[in-house]
Amino acid sequence: MARPTTIHVCSNCGHSEPRWMGQCPGCGEWNTLVEERAPASAGGAKTGGARRAAALRPIALADVPVERVPRMQCGIGELDRVLGGGLVPGSLVLMGGEPGIGKSTLTGMALGHLESAGRTTLYVSGEESAAQVRLRAERLGESALRVPVIAETDLDAVVATIEAERPDVCVIDSVQTLHAPELTGAPGSVGQVREVAGRLMRVAKEGGTAIVLVGHVTKEGSLAGPRVLEHLVDCVLLFEGERERTYRTVRALKNRFGSTNEVGVFEMAEGGLVEVLDASARFVGQATRAPGSVVLASMEGSRPLLVEVQALVSPSELVPPRRVCNGIDRNRLALVLAVLGRHAGVSTGTADVFVNVVGGVRVDEPGADLAIAIAVAAAARGVTAGDGRLPLACFGEVGLTGELRPVAHADRRSAEAAKFGLGTPVSPEAAPTLRQALKLALGDGRPAVQAA
Ligand code: TYD
Ligand code: MG
Repeated sequence: MARPTTIHVCSNCGHSEPRWMGQCPGCGEWNTLVEERAPASAGGAKTGGARRAAALRPIALADVPVERVPRMQCGIGELDRVLGGGLVPGSLVLMGGEPGIGKSTLTGMALGHLESAGRTTLYVSGEESAAQVRLRAERLGESALRVPVIAETDLDAVVATIEAERPDVCVIDSVQTLHAPELTGAPGSVGQVREVAGRLMRVAKEGGTAIVLVGHVTKEGSLAGPRVLEHLVDCVLLFEGERERTYRTVRALKNRFGSTNEVGVFEMAEGGLVEVLDASARFVGQATRAPGSVVLASMEGSRPLLVEVQALVSPSELVPPRRVCNGIDRNRLALVLAVLGRHAGVSTGTADVFVNVVGGVRVDEPGADLAIAIAVAAAARGVTAGDGRLPLACFGEVGLTGELRPVAHADRRSAEAAKFGLGTPVSPEAAPTLRQALKLALGDGRPAVQAA
């Protein structure tokens, strides 16, 4: 009898079955069986009895020879910075993001710049026809039009093309659309995505081609499929921002060749994505200075960034009242509201609270707590933070006992605020507790009245 070419392995307990089953007979979990290529037979290798291998000689790490490979710069400064200086030959990069965020645009631009710099490239489109890719490239300019393209979804054909062409850099748009014919699962299923990435990784390592896998992420952040690739690839980039809004950010969630702190800021314009280098200046210039607005001196990786945080507090008819936030974590908001109520006399129990980070920026650091607290308290009291002339800058983590906790890079945050003409930020250095910080920021001890 012919050996089956695929098996189904439980992602929970590792049990394998020749056929797909809804429930794993091994552990009883549902929907955990994932299709995989059957392992090649051991080819008559003797079984039983441990094989004795010759001992290896360990060497000190300092003596390990390292080949310093030059990076391939994509010509997009913000992207190169996030990558840690450019693409590493033979590496596998996963770029995730919601549909419409600009993944095809960014990768198309990068390949165009690489072509101009004399590198060989290949764009594999599984989603759009070659003509559609061309139409986008026309908007991106001359160099993007020089990128060779194939529109193909068959993994074998794609692998054969990469092996024949041996480009320096290849973009697969997207990993969910390719399919390995030997697996029966639909394109985009966990088994397929894993197989596609595994094969492409081998091709990348063997031929020294840097491969960028584009992957769609759902709103909930699960890289529907691609998340299962995170351990496999060298670098995971997440492209974030809201489609309707101007600013988008690229950050590294994992990077074997660089820091994961870097964030690149982009803006979608007529001719593709434009790097935003003066984001702080724009956000400060646009800050409203109205009650409920405050400027957060945040750190985006190694770079300070000033962003406006706005809050609205209004009487609620709902039980429980609404808690809506954009650009910050919901749990962070819940924590800050609880501390405000318990330790700073700002109760929002019967009010709807909305908090927004302006410009579609997402702030993912504890230093944002104080900005949320000041914005909410100012909105609840209907007073303006600071002296009313200039936006008030702040940063700091809020502790559960009402204390303010220091955050990293206080000096760089303060320097950024000073650079844009804002006074000394309200911070844990200036006020040890949230109550004192509110006094500094809002200038009084008035009781918290919810703005009508
Ligand atoms: P796209 O890169 O196709 O997104 P993704 O591959 O992540 O799904 O493009 C996203 C949007 O950007 C699309 O709606 C059209 C718009 N866009 C511009 O505004 N300007 C441009 O120059 C280009 C190429 C696209
Ligand atoms: Mg696309």
